Amino acid sequence: MTDYKTLEREASGRIEAASDLAALEALRVEYLGKQGSISGLLKTLGAMSPEDRQAKAPAIQSLRQAVSEALAERREAMEAALLEARLASERVDLTLPAPETPGGSVHPVSQVMDELAEVFADLGFSVATGPEIEDDWHNFTALNMPESHPARAMHDTFYFPDQDHAQGATDGAQGHRTLLRTHTSPVQVRTMLSQGAPVRIIAPGRVYRSDSDATHTPMFHQIEGLVIDRDIHLGHLKWTLETFLKAFFEREDIVLRLRPSYFPFTEPSVEVDVGFAIESGQDGKGRRVLGGSGDAPGHGWMELLGSGMVNRRVIAMSGLDPDEWQGFAFGVGVDRLAMLKYGMDDLRAFFDGDVRWLRHYGFSAFDQPTLSGGVGARA
Ligand code: PHE
Repeated sequence: MTDYKTLEREASGRIEAASDLAALEALRVEYLGKQGSISGLLKTLGAMSPEDRQAKAPAIQSLRQAVSEALAERREAMEAALLEARLASERVDLTLPAPETPGGSVHPVSQVMDELAEVFADLGFSVATGPEIEDDWHNFTALNMPESHPARAMHDTFYFPDQDHAQGATDGAQGHRTLLRTHTSPVQVRTMLSQGAPVRIIAPGRVYRSDSDATHTPMFHQIEGLVIDRDIHLGHLKWTLETFLKAFFEREDIVLRLRPSYFPFTEPSVEVDVGFAIESGQDGKGRRVLGGSGDAPGHGWMELLGSGMVNRRVIAMSGLDPDEWQGFAFGVGVDRLAMLKYGMDDLRAFFDGDVRWLRHYGFSAFDQPTLSGGVGARA
């Protein structure tokens, strides 16, 4: 007689020793599959005499029961162990600090342009733009700088080598040579031509001159201002500049000095100086701090911008009647405003793209300039 107990012991030993789920499945097939040995034993019951069957059936059934339970138990244990291992290996420590993600910053030039747009928006100015690739009519002729004007010379202006480039910036037969604009003043002409009067705009953007040292780069930024209406005079210009500079530098004690000057496109022309004091910094070096009259002891005047009443000829060439319309214009270096406000001293570093400089002088994109908060960025 088959020793069922021995069979059961042997089966449970092998089940216990099975190394993985696949081995366990193989054992299940071997014992309980269609061709399995225990299934085979069960099949023999049918051919037995009733007495035999009665004697053996319970033992075979209990063998089958025991083996199938052993298989299930072992499978459960294996699956639990696998899950344990996975949980251990995929464990995330939520108490660790989050990994640092590299964040960009707003370049001081962009920051200052945003601040200027904010200040002038409050004074009713909108922002106008024009092409950096200009023609000499908009950049010079319409601004009352005739062919012979020295500013047109090659050593100041980047010209394109041939006429084929003239297509983008056209003004019919008038646009002759194509160049990189040397100032934002052509936007004055373009705005008057396209919008008519009255006008109240600022025009920030890149300009180009063949110039390079610690305070000059071949590309730099200007912001142009233009107001055209029926009764605009120098007083409006002075008030506008004072209001803008006080808001921008966040100081009430900004003092301006207006000096007679010359620009072909303004008449009269006014150069504007701003008073500063020399304060000694921690490093012992003297630092220029804007504020107060430049005539006070220990103070001085610093040239800040060019401006004036728009020349009648410019107004006429821009399609308006100079007997009806008049106004003022000004042009300021944006990079210089940034240097003065945020304390950088080398202009070239602005455009080197050194991330260390950007990290140090850049601004958070979340720090939007608003007039109510003071337009300055928090340090
Ligand atoms: N366009 C002049 C410059 O670049 C500045 C200026 C603008 C002067 C408007 C007067 C009026 O130097």
